[in-house]
Amino acid sequence: MPKYIAVAGKGGTGKTTFASLVVKYLVQNKKGSVLAVDADPNANLSEVLGMEVKTTISELLNQTKDPKSVPVGMSKEVFIEYKLQQSLVESNDLDLLVMGNPQGPGCYCYPNDLLRKYLERLSSGYDYVVVDTEAGLEHISRKTIPQVDWLFVISDASARGVRSAGRIHELVQSLGSAVKKELLIVTKTKKDSLANLADEITATGIDLIGDIPYDESIAEFDEEGKALFKLPDNNAAVAAAKEILINVGV
Ligand SMILES: Nc1ncnc2c1ncn2[C@@H]1O[C@H](COP(=O)(O)OP(=O)(O)OP(=O)(O)O)[C@@H](O)[C@H]1O
Ligand SMILES: [Mg+2]
Repeated sequence: MPKYIAVAGKGGTGKTTFASLVVKYLVQNKKGSVLAVDADPNANLSEVLGMEVKTTISELLNQTKDPKSVPVGMSKEVFIEYKLQQSLVESNDLDLLVMGNPQGPGCYCYPNDLLRKYLERLSSGYDYVVVDTEAGLEHISRKTIPQVDWLFVISDASARGVRSAGRIHELVQSLGSAVKKELLIVTKTKKDSLANLADEITATGIDLIGDIPYDESIAEFDEEGKALFKLPDNNAAVAAAKEILINVGV
């Protein structure tokens, strides 16, 4: 069984940045094989990881909707499985799956069931699965992601971000045992951010595990569209992410 690490939070808080720092830590410290899953409909984990994506799972599943698309002599189930296999982006140290936008006309129940089975089988071949997900935690509630060992709820250094993390916590509680450990991370912090937000942070009900400081080079890399993998190890955000991951026992 792989260890599942998921990152969730309000839009723009720094989820994808933190997810890529997690992947960077796992790969560079040779923690084992890593599957990154971009489960945010507004997908951009691939860019931050510097991997090229040709198609998403949603696009591939869409292509199987028309019964005429199924090759003669092939069952629809085998056809969907075949399509799903085309969605994996492979590289030396890391593979990537991009879910795409699940919304669309018609019922996705059947493909979703197959997607769940496919992901379970695929994931079992890795040591770590890192999921960049949206605030609604749809893939966890629909069980396309079977379980989460560490859920990092990301907030930026704003009262609104922290309150939104509190709402995600309520959602997580309604998911029961699917999430084993839930931890709060405040990103883009400046000198007094944590002290100023202390009451809001307590009110979320989630344990604060650490913060990722505001870092100029992350902003620069983002502006230039450069992969965060290339950030040096002595970068403050890279070092902060590493400390958090070591602390929680990843
Ligand atoms: N520690 C940091 N220091 C400076 N800038 C940061 C930091 N973390 C994130 N950012 C910047 O904040 C913006 C949002 O970050 P990111 O894309 O990681 O957030 P997100 O939560 O994944 O957003 P979305 O909801 O759009 O997917 C980006 O421009 C990113 O470069
Ligand atoms: Mg993102």
